[in-house]
Amino acid sequence: MTILLLGSGGREHAFAWKMLQSPLCSQLFVAPGNAGTEAIATNVNLNPTDFNAIKTFVLQEKVEMVVVGPEDPLVKGIFDFFQNDDSLKHIPVIGPSKMGAQLEGSKEFAKEFLVRHQIPTAAYDSFTKETVEQGCQFLETLQPPFVLKADGLAAGKGVLIIQDLAEAKEELRNMLINEKFGEASSKVVIEEFLDGIELSCFVLTDGKNYKILPTAKDYKRIGEGDTGLNTGGMGAVSPVPFADAVLLKKIETRIVKPTIEGLQKDGIPYKGFVFIGLINVKNEPIVIEYNVRMGDPETEVVIPRLKSDLVALFQAVANQTLDKTELEIDERSATTIMVVSGGYPEDYEKGKVISGIEKVTDSIVFHAGTKSENGQVLSNGGRVLAVTSYGDDYQQAIKKSYQNIDQLHFDKMYFRKDIGYDL
Ligand code: AMP
Ligand code: GLY
Repeated sequence: MTILLLGSGGREHAFAWKMLQSPLCSQLFVAPGNAGTEAIATNVNLNPTDFNAIKTFVLQEKVEMVVVGPEDPLVKGIFDFFQNDDSLKHIPVIGPSKMGAQLEGSKEFAKEFLVRHQIPTAAYDSFTKETVEQGCQFLETLQPPFVLKADGLAAGKGVLIIQDLAEAKEELRNMLINEKFGEASSKVVIEEFLDGIELSCFVLTDGKNYKILPTAKDYKRIGEGDTGLNTGGMGAVSPVPFADAVLLKKIETRIVKPTIEGLQKDGIPYKGFVFIGLINVKNEPIVIEYNVRMGDPETEVVIPRLKSDLVALFQAVANQTLDKTELEIDERSATTIMVVSGGYPEDYEKGKVISGIEKVTDSIVFHAGTKSENGQVLSNGGRVLAVTSYGDDYQQAIKKSYQNIDQLHFDKMYFRKDIGYDL
């Protein structure tokens, strides 16, 4: 089968690495990809949100399946674009419909879905420019810290957690009136603060049946001890050691099942990944967000633990036969450490020569922001490489990743040295 994978991060390199292990995959294109995917598949210079260009390519190369990595094309409706086109509708797109992608595309939509289907989530209300004063009054009824969320996609930056009431009111005005996050903050969800430890649950669904993938925990802040600015993620661990069978059972019965049933009840076509962000509050899992794709860097630990054929699973998603498949999971732990450009998530330089990748043994180097030029691998983004290792436990795996990072070098390279510190 000829497959087109959309995206260019560590998540996509991990997907490509895994899909190429399947006998069902005869050719893999990645658009636009990175130096890592270029080494194992064929990169294509296509923008994942340029659907007409994708259509031309898919028809020309007789692509038989499209796997979507990032949220943008999903929120913009790539699934529906294929469904509504007679020449494309026989080609499965792995990802939700435009309506399903609203679970990530609109925080308010997600909150309404959660409440409608009685799935545990933080109490909330949402406000617009017209109701900013009511929003300020609502803040007065809550205990600090205050959680303000831009409704729309804001590249992971749209959530503010503020201690001081006056500052929270000012930021609310900033978001709604001064459009701090542009159109994304034309609506703001104000939410009760949940005090607990975060974990993520990943589900693959065909819209009717589902499979729960291994749990993972991501480290979002740039600084050690979870300090400083939010990033896309600085490292991840799978499985999450504190997610025991009792907690997993609660997650499945109270959250995963009602989510998939809710999609069906609402008539929302959904054939893809659901990434459920949870906070464990005194052993009660509560949803803080949905994403409609896999996480990055969580994919770099979840996918290496999947022993089953990923392409076969995607086929089952397309044919709605996921109930007839079995998931086989590697018992070992997997961890990944993100190696980033100095300055990230603010300004950073690109184009630095990366050396030492070939010296890495016993870890997998997934490329994120890289490109190849004249036989060299250059940095091409904030998050540059994800170094994934297996171990009997997460400590052993983390140690291996750190040992291998010592082999890597580029100017101003940075990574967190404390991944897993809180477990
Ligand atoms: P989100 O984009 O919804 O994942 O939010 C970004 C981050 O904000 C999450 O990873 C949490 O660390 C934090 N967060 C979001 N909602 C809440 C909440 N209700 N209580 C506490 N922390 C939250
Ligand atoms: N690592 C968090 C995310 O992919 O959204």
